[in-house]
Amino acid sequence: MTSNKRFALIAGARPNFMKIAPIIKAMERYREIEVCLIHTGQHYDKNLSDVFFQELGIRKPDIALGVGSGSHAKQTAEVMVAIESLLVEAQEQGKPFTAVIVVGDVNSTMAAALAATKLHVPVVHVEAGLRSRDRSMPEEINRLVTDSISDLLLCSEPAGVENLLAEGHLQENVHLVGNVMIDTLMSEVARAKEQNTLMEFGLEPRKYGVVTLHRPGNVDQKETLEAILQVLSKVSVHLPIVFPVHPRTRSRIEQFGLQDILGSSTGCRLVEPLGYLDCLCLTSQAKVVVTDSGGLQEESTALGVPCLTLRPNTERPITCSQGTGTLIGNSAELLDLKLQEVLNDRYKIGSCPLLWDGQAALRIVAVLAQRYL
Ligand code: UD1
Repeated sequence: MTSNKRFALIAGARPNFMKIAPIIKAMERYREIEVCLIHTGQHYDKNLSDVFFQELGIRKPDIALGVGSGSHAKQTAEVMVAIESLLVEAQEQGKPFTAVIVVGDVNSTMAAALAATKLHVPVVHVEAGLRSRDRSMPEEINRLVTDSISDLLLCSEPAGVENLLAEGHLQENVHLVGNVMIDTLMSEVARAKEQNTLMEFGLEPRKYGVVTLHRPGNVDQKETLEAILQVLSKVSVHLPIVFPVHPRTRSRIEQFGLQDILGSSTGCRLVEPLGYLDCLCLTSQAKVVVTDSGGLQEESTALGVPCLTLRPNTERPITCSQGTGTLIGNSAELLDLKLQEVLNDRYKIGSCPLLWDGQAALRIVAVLAQRYL
């Protein structure tokens, strides 16, 4: 007699939620699979967490760890301790997990992977193999650690596969499955465009820019943040800008006393972090996206919207080689130049990468079924 296979699916922070939504749905198609959804609580604000569950129809987590904010070590350690204890409990109750599935590159991803592998529970990493080669980014450390201890590595773009093979992973453990976040985008974009978001912000389609900014490398030093805000202020004279401000960025702007830079510019509107549908409504109809977010780089490419990436490197190279992305670093001149290209309709046209087709979750679960059922 075969019993059901139990998988723990881990989500912790905002960019994880749009990745787990289609995976849960695809897993629920298999009668032999049981999913235990675990929310670590790394993000806990309503607009960084709850709104995504509501809008994407993600069911209530089976277990909420409530870990919250803290230093990297504290946050990582607390997730590890909590995951370890629930994996041990499951073993003691005779209901062990077949594997733990982690997505993306946040602290919760790495912490859950570490706790599981030490208990000999296999780890599946969705969005494996991405490398920025920039070890000053906490996410790069999370990616390196998670991939090095994962048993099954599922990649969103060919560079991920190449990186993993070059690092010595066995081909049989590495699969190109496509981009699961784009599954969510494709299933929600029509509904998103029906939102009133543009009207609420007084914007017209293709006549505004969307800005997001939250990487420590861009917002934690006063000089860097100040220079970026100055450019945005200049740009917003020609092109209205909506800037949903991440809590980290808002607190840095206040701490460094930089409120007046954008406050004095009428074209730039600072708003609270947006839910999924409002955000997609805005980005899908924007003239340009200016961001340091990994997710928005990919979403812009899938939507065919120019994306000026405020980073010196990207772990998602296909967004620049094939998609609509351009790396700007923190160069005010380059940002200005590329914005002019966009405004004059001279900016490059990208195309949507292979397997960013809305079916990635089905391929992910097919790989799981092949390996574990
Ligand atoms: C995390 C991820 C990053 C991801 C981002 C999306 C890591 C290392 N980083 O960064 O990869 O792109 O999420 O947002 O995992 N805070 C709140 N409310 C919350 C959560 C956080 O106000 O619900 C504030 C706290 O002051 C906290 C700070 O934001 O200290 C940073 O939160 P944290 O989860 O540590 O990292 P993010 O910068 O959000």
